[in-house]
Amino acid sequence: MKIAIIGSGLIGQSWAMIFAGAGHKVTLYDIVSEQVSKALETIATNLKNYESQGCLRGQLTASRQVSLITGSSDLQECLNGASYVQECVPESVDLKRQVFNQMDMYITEDMIVASSSSCLGVSQFVGEMKNKHRTLVAHPVNPPYFVPLVEIVPGPWTLPEVSQQTRTLLESVGQAPVTLSKECPGFALNRIQYSIINECWCMYKDGLLSAADIDKLMVNGLGPRYAFIGPLETMHLNADGIVDYCKRYAQGAYNVSSTLTPPPIMYDIPTAENVQSELSSAVPLEQLLERRKWRDRHLAALASLKNQLKEK
Ligand code: NAI
Repeated sequence: MKIAIIGSGLIGQSWAMIFAGAGHKVTLYDIVSEQVSKALETIATNLKNYESQGCLRGQLTASRQVSLITGSSDLQECLNGASYVQECVPESVDLKRQVFNQMDMYITEDMIVASSSSCLGVSQFVGEMKNKHRTLVAHPVNPPYFVPLVEIVPGPWTLPEVSQQTRTLLESVGQAPVTLSKECPGFALNRIQYSIINECWCMYKDGLLSAADIDKLMVNGLGPRYAFIGPLETMHLNADGIVDYCKRYAQGAYNVSSTLTPPPIMYDIPTAENVQSELSSAVPLEQLLERRKWRDRHLAALASLKNQLKEK
């Protein structure tokens, strides 16, 4: 199957590696043609590094995967013959509208066009298109090569089979898609993520815990638990089923939840500066790049452990 990637920045490169890992032919397009050649070089380096570190995805060698990925500086050529298109241009309604309108005339009846959008639903930018029923959001989580979740978010015009075929394709390449029934602000992942961040922010501002201890709480408590079972199954296992859990703990949970405050506005730079000075004592700003690489190595190791456990 041919996959077209529109926008060859961080996320476009990740999608290209994921699809090539599963043996698909990938063509990368970017408005900046030098960016395409830079992206192809970065992808080749990354895949070779992943191979030597033992975290390359799929059955093919890194050089075989690299050979499946080509670049193009022509939108029509990139889309020609593609069954699935993944748009990865910056998060701007006007830019996405312009790119989707440009693609419209090349969309065929068997093509799916997905946007990587983090928070914009397709309804905000595909309304003028003839082929809007073949568009939807497929929102990955950074770094997508090691964190498999993808949120599939259909727009009001998306055909049900377009959502279903996207889910099947993403599962077949090793991602873990979930499907929302309709668009909503923040989709699902960011709604949950912001509720966590908001409470962390409030606890820090109240002086309840240090920044380091808030992060430790997630890394050593909720994080390990949620790496294998979600919050609903946790309730199910922590009593004789979730109905029993609700009978036993609903009142206590409600009492705590009633003390949660409305969302804070994080544009509170003095608080952010205090958190940053604490975080910087462990990871100075000039070491963020190194720390991101460290994070990716650990996520790769976790992904590989989860795969091994799945096989048992
Ligand atoms: P990026 O800035 O790294 O890459 C965007 C690329 O699009 C650039 O190479 C740029 O030259 C190209 N571009 C700009 N205008 C274009 C046009 N008209 N036609 C073709 N290419 C064009 O951005 P990134 O981080 O890869 O984000 C892409 C999308 O993925 C955004 O919607 C973002 O919200 C979403 N996303 C980003 C995540 C992240 O952590 N960076 C995570 C999940 C989703």
